[in-house]
Amino acid sequence: MSNLVLQARALSKKFVGVQALDKVSLGIETGTIHCLAGENGSGKSTFVKTISGLYQPDEGDILLNGNVYTGLTPVQAMREGVQVIYQDLSLFPHMSLAENIALNRLRLSGAKIVDWKKIWRIAKEQTEKIGVDIDLNATAMETSMAGRQITAICRALSQDAKLLFMDEPTAALTRQEVDRLLKVVQELKNKGLSVVFISHKLDEIFRISDNITIFRDGKKIGDFASGQLDEKSLAYHMTGRDVRYPRYRRSLGDDTPLLQVKGLNKQGHYQDVSFQIRPGDILGLIGLLGSGRTEFALSLFGLNPPEEGVVVFEGETVRVASPVEANRLGIALLPEDRGSQGLFKERGIRENVTSTLLGRLASGFRALDREKEREIAEEGVKKLRIRAPGIETPVGTLSGGNAQKVVVAKWSAANPKLFIMDSPTVGIDIGSKAEIYEMVQSFARGGMAVLFITDELEELMCNCNRVLVMGNHRIIAELDENAMTQSDAERRIADLIGGSAGKEVEV
Ligand SMILES: Nc1ncnc2c1ncn2[C@@H]1O[C@H](COP(=O)(O)OP(=O)(O)OP(=O)(O)O)[C@@H](O)[C@H]1O
Ligand SMILES: [Mg+2]
Repeated sequence: MSNLVLQARALSKKFVGVQALDKVSLGIETGTIHCLAGENGSGKSTFVKTISGLYQPDEGDILLNGNVYTGLTPVQAMREGVQVIYQDLSLFPHMSLAENIALNRLRLSGAKIVDWKKIWRIAKEQTEKIGVDIDLNATAMETSMAGRQITAICRALSQDAKLLFMDEPTAALTRQEVDRLLKVVQELKNKGLSVVFISHKLDEIFRISDNITIFRDGKKIGDFASGQLDEKSLAYHMTGRDVRYPRYRRSLGDDTPLLQVKGLNKQGHYQDVSFQIRPGDILGLIGLLGSGRTEFALSLFGLNPPEEGVVVFEGETVRVASPVEANRLGIALLPEDRGSQGLFKERGIRENVTSTLLGRLASGFRALDREKEREIAEEGVKKLRIRAPGIETPVGTLSGGNAQKVVVAKWSAANPKLFIMDSPTVGIDIGSKAEIYEMVQSFARGGMAVLFITDELEELMCNCNRVLVMGNHRIIAELDENAMTQSDAERRIADLIGGSAGKEVEV
């Protein structure tokens, strides 16, 4: 017997117009952390769904604990100890964490009556197993993303997981939460579990993986021991090219501010926020999640409006009281919350990309004809390298990152004067990030003002000509154009955000 918990042999899976998996053979060793890496749409999630019995492969077979399957049902997969933590986590929002952890297990064992003591015992046992401390009484709804994630892991453990798949678990987590999650993953490995981990953040991959498998276009490019690769070679294998990010410098001569914000306050959300932004600025806003940056960004879009302060847009004092008003002024928001991005899943890329234009159309703009729509959609697909069979492909069938690109294309098509982008590249592969940066930078060169919210220092440094650092609901530092060209700029910002990162995280 081998020490492989899973062995996939020549798995293929085709969807309309796409070979999502192309004869993929892959072994996962017991008690290891195995990362899957690859560009958006390369087949990672499809692989996970095939092993968990959600998709049936067209060809190939799957060995789990030595048992051969040509196709799996979800129940069979679960019996073999396969558990998947999907991004939405599928927790019951109104139930306690304890119930969320224990209920599936009790249901599987056929229990009819809810036995609180038992629920509590099961939940406690799982949390202790991996040494985490979460408030088991709290409902999932009132728990942070990181806490919910840990709950989902405990739920998987309670169902005797042997092989745990985590598909981009860190996408919605802050830096400290990521640290904590990675520790838990390490702990799972120490307990003898196997973990398959998917992430687009290369540093995470190197921090935890024993082995790395790289996918490209549905094919396996290769298996590597983590020590055999570095970020550069991994990026190269994923994309087949050297990835370089462009560095932005503002070149417009006109310094008249587009937006001025003075003394904006909303109790408990943001305090005393003042700054200005000119056309052609890509103003970075960095700070930990919970620093107030998203709450503040929403206020500029007419959501979460301030209680005090002045907003001047194109020289006139305005009250942006709703998104409709924001849109009318020429302000667009690419929201952070991946669930609420308003994609019409059954509709095609074309309709989604041009849906912001329809809003204008209703307010008296010239009707767009099909041909024009097609042109706009095709341009978005090309510029952002959206991987799809065609522009009529329903966005619900796109890979996570490609759907995210449609959101970016959609708001870009609206061609706003001020574009607020909240974490625009979460879930986007390292190659496609370059395309998004190119696009944002070319908008700015054309005179758009961009407020660029991000967690990632690297993307802050290459895109932003000025930076605001937010902490504890206030702006704690501002780096102007001159400061940003100094060699110590990155370290200064790292120190600032690292400083507030020191304290223990609540989950
Ligand atoms: N249910 C489906 N119907 C049609 N096509 C699908 C379906 N699921 C996936 N695909 C296609 O299969 C390909 C692989 O998608 P998959 O979700 O596996 O990519 P991924 O590697 O997980 O990408 P990402 O990093 O963006 O999450 C994509 O082209 C996607 O559009
Ligand atoms: Mg995916």
